[in-house]
Amino acid sequence: MEKRSELYRGKAKTVYHTNDPNRLILEFRNDTSAFDGEKVEQLDDKGMVNNKFNHFIMAKLEEAGIPTQLDERLSDTESLVKKLDMIPVECVIRNVAAGSLVRRLGVEEGKELNPPTFEFFLKNDALHDPMVNEYHIQAFGWATAEQIEKMKALTFKVNEVLKALFADARLLLVDYKLEFGVFDGEIMLGDEFTPDGCRLWDAETREKLDKDRFRQGLGGVVEAYREVAKRLGVQLD
Ligand code: C5P
Repeated sequence: MEKRSELYRGKAKTVYHTNDPNRLILEFRNDTSAFDGEKVEQLDDKGMVNNKFNHFIMAKLEEAGIPTQLDERLSDTESLVKKLDMIPVECVIRNVAAGSLVRRLGVEEGKELNPPTFEFFLKNDALHDPMVNEYHIQAFGWATAEQIEKMKALTFKVNEVLKALFADARLLLVDYKLEFGVFDGEIMLGDEFTPDGCRLWDAETREKLDKDRFRQGLGGVVEAYREVAKRLGVQLD
């Protein structure tokens, strides 16, 4: 596969065209950003760790019958993916209260949520990704009712698969964000699943092992991602 011109440069990944109009190359960079890009740093090896981590998780999800855009890992920092028509909403499931939920509702961080909650956010940096509901999504034409149901069902299925996978590695999947797109009329999981887009705590000590280490200036960010990868059996070196 031939890497061609840049299609889009995001905050942590760059997307390239290829010689196949239905395929793109994702490059995972070392850039780490938080607070809508207000805080940005380069963290050595983060691109490599996240590319390999994402490949591992997407393969597990495919095995469980969840369609994903990932075709293959091409190098330490690049993967070949299907070119999806992305739906501009983020799907967030929370198993434990943290982050914006705690700030929004004044609830205690660490409270188990039963049932897990589901939220949609509009992907829009300028508006700081506001929360939206199914009526907004349909009224503004971002997705159909059928696509909304499919995204919800797949996001909950991911929760069942990954909660168990992480629990076996003595990790608590606190929450995560997924993005979906359409390929050949089918809804597929796009973007990435890495510790940049989820919260993972040590099951016993509740130590944070995800991007909150960066957001909160705790240090040891890539070291934590490596620890998670090691516990899951992701081959990094
Ligand atoms: O900030 P908040 O608590 O709403 O985030 C919920 C989950 O979604 C967290 O795991 C966070 O890392 C992820 N997220 C993300 N990208 C965003 C917003 C949230 O990956 N733009």
